Amino acid sequence: MGDDIWAGLADRFADEAYASVKGYVRTYVMHQQLTEHLPPPATVLDVGGGAGHQSFPLAQAGYDVTVLDSSPAMLDKARQRLERLPAQARQRVTLLLANGENAAEAVAGRRFAAVLCHGVLGYLDQPEPLVDQLCRCAADGGLLSIMTGNARTTAVRPALERRWDDALASFDTRTGIGVLGVQGRADTVEEISELIRSRGVRPVRWYGVWLFVDWLEFSGVELDPGDSPQLAATAAVELEASRRDPYRQLSRVFHLIGRKNPT
Ligand SMILES: C[S@@+](CC[C@H](N)C(=O)[O-])C[C@H]1O[C@@H](n2cnc3c(N)ncnc32)[C@H](O)[C@@H]1O
Repeated sequence: MGDDIWAGLADRFADEAYASVKGYVRTYVMHQQLTEHLPPPATVLDVGGGAGHQSFPLAQAGYDVTVLDSSPAMLDKARQRLERLPAQARQRVTLLLANGENAAEAVAGRRFAAVLCHGVLGYLDQPEPLVDQLCRCAADGGLLSIMTGNARTTAVRPALERRWDDALASFDTRTGIGVLGVQGRADTVEEISELIRSRGVRPVRWYGVWLFVDWLEFSGVELDPGDSPQLAATAAVELEASRRDPYRQLSRVFHLIGRKNPT
């Protein structure tokens, strides 16, 4: 494993991004989709799972979770956050330092009922080596859950920030500096669907993740995560939007669910 580029981002990502309305909506919406496709209990491998924001709630819901990540700093964050979980949920979490591109070996050939990979592919030059490992680590009939940048909506952010020249240039681009200040790359649902299909995983359904809260934030509107009734109402609207056209098509990230074919 090379330098830990996530060391400088761990606080901003784990503490700040997830403390926002957008962070709450993301976790909530994806949790609903995941639990609908795979009710607990089940085993989950979260590749590039970071500080465990998606998989710790799964552990609390009864899943047995392994968080695999290549960043010691992100796993430190996960360890700190783990301390705050109730003991029963804590016992259901394992943290594993490894490269996703080496996941099958790192988990010693174990196969999981669900393999998650959220917000990771976009930081890699090529998605194939990691996707290969994700598909391998899923058990027969197991779930694959990928979330990544949507290459069809790259003009949204610069347009909402009223950077019109950038917006015009970005319609046909799929790389750029993301919200964390790191160079990122986007894919299409069709491309990632094809990558998993050719590795024995059937695409089942895809969703948007956030829409309205993302657009509001880029437009300069401040949303209060402390306003619980508003937060719940917002999350309910975002969940509906994530499942329907045309809303899901406009989300800057997409969430693809696949099911591994029986051998
Ligand atoms: C944006 S964070 C997403 C974390 C988590 N999946 C989530 O949704 O909250 C990206 C994570 O991917 C990890 N990562 C990046 N490249 C990786 C790789 N090749 N193998 C394993 N983890 C990787 C980083 O260390 C970081 O924790």
